[in-house]
Amino acid sequence: MKNILITGGAGFIGSHVVRLFVNKYPDYKIINLDKLTYAGNLENLKDLESKPNYTFIKADICDSKTIDKVFKEYKIDSVIHLAAESHVDRSIKDPFSFAKTNVLGTLNLLQAAKNNWVEDVNKLFYHISTDEVYGSLNDSGFFTENTPYDPHSPYSASKAASDHFVRAFSNTYKLPIVISNCSNNYGPNQFPEKLIPLFINNICNNKPLPIYGKGENVRDWLYVEDHAKAIDTIFHKGKFGETYNVGGFNEWKNIDLIKVLIKTVDKLLGRKEGTSKKLISYVADRAGHDYRYAIDASKLKNELGWQPSLQFKEGIEKTAQWYLDNQDWVKNITTGDYQKYYQEMYKE
Ligand code: NAD
Ligand code: TYD
Repeated sequence: MKNILITGGAGFIGSHVVRLFVNKYPDYKIINLDKLTYAGNLENLKDLESKPNYTFIKADICDSKTIDKVFKEYKIDSVIHLAAESHVDRSIKDPFSFAKTNVLGTLNLLQAAKNNWVEDVNKLFYHISTDEVYGSLNDSGFFTENTPYDPHSPYSASKAASDHFVRAFSNTYKLPIVISNCSNNYGPNQFPEKLIPLFINNICNNKPLPIYGKGENVRDWLYVEDHAKAIDTIFHKGKFGETYNVGGFNEWKNIDLIKVLIKTVDKLLGRKEGTSKKLISYVADRAGHDYRYAIDASKLKNELGWQPSLQFKEGIEKTAQWYLDNQDWVKNITTGDYQKYYQEMYKE
């Protein structure tokens, strides 16, 4: 029996983690707490609504009274903390909301855990973070758990700060914690502002594909369900106080990845191969654009036995098919308020 508070469970990665835990562990009570920002969507969890071990609470992790109440009422003994502002481009426009949710919100949850967990038997605060805290690599080398922190964007700075607070609570108050830092995720339910879903959607709708700079930046991509499985492994087998890097061993230059997306989506739509190449549009580079991220996930593989299971080609086909099959999902979240925000953000 466990009473697990999962924050940000209505978002992209969170929805896959909630689904995995609710279905795999019927004896655990899963409490999904989410503010439902533009990125949170209960459509992602419709199939779980009638499950007896699943509860949804709409709340802000910055609201200390509500968080404390939830800890008491649901006798929370574990936290898997995913709630965050997560998009680098937004963080460049509005760093304050990133500091608020990612730093103060995390601090608030840590404080609630510290105050409510009088004795720490069977307790765990599991913080989900990003490889972006390590900064940027040149053409060689990998991020390991010992790479010094060197965040470059307001997003990664806010995640780095939250990681430091989590470790500080472990050191100072002996809070039982574990942290994982993961590479770029892709798959169903990702808000279509990040590279892969945005481009799939734009190819479908014959809209330009805005490539920042020369498209030479490199990212290491992991299918979201593989990340959810890594979180399951680390939650159950990770050692207190440890950090685990999670990655796909799967590096792609943006421009090469975009060519794969064009090929895959054109094929699924029955278009002639390469039809959508004409949509490629080179635009101004992102400010402070990190060149390369690449994770060495061998600690997780060697110590806890996790490794990615899905091949990239298969993952991209599944993802593209999902977006084609779920055009209403995309339409519902990219109209109204979001549309206003999007126009505002990209007007210059
Ligand atoms: P997302 O933006 O899709 O979802 C974030 C969720 O958090 C949303 O449901 C949103 O409503 C909720 N949320 C935001 N602010 C909140 C608040 N103040 N209170 C309560 N809920 C709030 O993000 P994601 O891509 O699923 O990322 C989840 C976590 O994983 C984040 O912590 C992110 O830093 C980390 N991460 C993401 C990636 C990636 O590639 N997406 C990679 C590594 C780590
Ligand atoms: P993104 O999905 O925003 O993830 P992150 O910045 O956290 O790695 O971007 C992935 C890569 O794609 C990154 O190098 C920026 C680039 N990119 C574009 O070239 N065009 C776009 O429209 C977006 C959203 C991203």
